[in-house]
Amino acid sequence: MTSYRIVGGKRLQGDVNISGSKNAVLGILAAAMMLDGPCKIENVPDINDVHAMLEICETIGAQITPCGDGVYEIDPTNINTYEATHPKVKNIRASYYLLGALLTRFKKATMFMPGGCNFGTRPIDLHLKGFRKMGAQGTRATDIRDGIIRIVANELNGAHIFLDVVSVGATINLMLAATKANGLTVIENAAKEPHIVDVANFLNAMGANIKGAGTDTIRIQGVPVLPGGYSYSVIPDQIEAGTYMIAAAVTRGDVTIHNLIPKHMEPLTVKMLEMGFDIEQGDDWIRVSIDEDTELEPTNFKTRPYPGFPTDLQPQATVLLCLAHGMSQMHENVWDNRFQYVPELQSMGASISVMERIALIHGPVQFSGARVTALDLRAGAAMVLAGLAAEGTTTITFANRIERGYEKIVEKLRGIGAEIEHIEEDEEHVVPVDDE
Ligand code: EPZ
Repeated sequence: MTSYRIVGGKRLQGDVNISGSKNAVLGILAAAMMLDGPCKIENVPDINDVHAMLEICETIGAQITPCGDGVYEIDPTNINTYEATHPKVKNIRASYYLLGALLTRFKKATMFMPGGCNFGTRPIDLHLKGFRKMGAQGTRATDIRDGIIRIVANELNGAHIFLDVVSVGATINLMLAATKANGLTVIENAAKEPHIVDVANFLNAMGANIKGAGTDTIRIQGVPVLPGGYSYSVIPDQIEAGTYMIAAAVTRGDVTIHNLIPKHMEPLTVKMLEMGFDIEQGDDWIRVSIDEDTELEPTNFKTRPYPGFPTDLQPQATVLLCLAHGMSQMHENVWDNRFQYVPELQSMGASISVMERIALIHGPVQFSGARVTALDLRAGAAMVLAGLAAEGTTTITFANRIERGYEKIVEKLRGIGAEIEHIEEDEEHVVPVDDE
């Protein structure tokens, strides 16, 4: 079992490069499964969720050729099944994008209900309701048997879909299903995350006709063929970049984060400026530093769909708020149970009380090293940040969960001065936690 051991208290300094966006490339790989020709995808991050998605795409017949340095040639033309029921499908939630992709390719799609994450239920009712509006059957809860979804459509027709909840997954999945549908599909109240725009840009580069991605109304004019035949480079990962900005902050370091899109970081940048950090930025970099004698100001964060503060930076920002002088609040408005990591932080000295979707954070505290668990990907990243700021040594178990979404995190942190290492521990030493 992979764990991390961190000796905290080191001030991070220097330069770190951000990798391609996990949440963009997972949608793009599913979109590639719909193409009528090959394509090349660049800047693909070397992370476990991508490895899983690539394997899943191969199980349905896609030919995937790694070209090295994050470049993959994808040929979906030999995909031979509409059934994504390989056990690996359960490993990652984003496999559900194959519903939209296979429905487009075969007018049929069969796959396992996606697993939840341990921060609350993760329904896909909006995905299924949208498919139904486009003409698919098998999309009602009563149609789902043995945990398997079986949807089929004689024809996929354009539809006017209003999402009653802003959903990244539903927006992407319905965009996929609409790409070759008959006529125009309009998705209202669509999510606007950078990774949605990236999936739309990929599809347009391959022959689709999608307008308005990044706004709350996306219009998809169905096309008969998606020729493919081009290369596409994935955008930088907004959440990885934010995690390193906060890593610099919690160690009162001086770090320049390269290969990012500053516009995507604004929801975090403005809050860090409020707290007293110095933020400089250029076309594709942000530098985080702070004067030695600056006391961190408390502030309140509220997670919201983009361009609001991203829920996937919520645990990391909570660690930062523990170092502010006074009371801060973290409002989690996207997920109904995303503070489960708080007891792990409390074991390191945090002073946090949680009432449903609001955490009251009292600071400053001095974190002290402890043995903690990475409960999920972003909670695990928060444990790393607390370990970097802590006095003493922190051991983080289930670190494999962190490696689902952070490429070479140990190497990258060591490159800016952290004392962190992988350690392998016998399973019996690691208290089992319900896996995702
Ligand atoms: C995506 O999950 C991300 N995952 C999550 O990031 C992220 O937390 C989330 O978007 C919000 O930004 C990927 O992109 C692979 P949603 P997704 O559909 O699509 C409700 C990470 O750490 N909802 O936007 O599953 C849902 O319950 C991961 O990288 C419905 O009610 O999230 C939630 O309250 C963790 N019905 C809200 O919408 C539906 O059919 C937002 O969920 C779908 C969603």
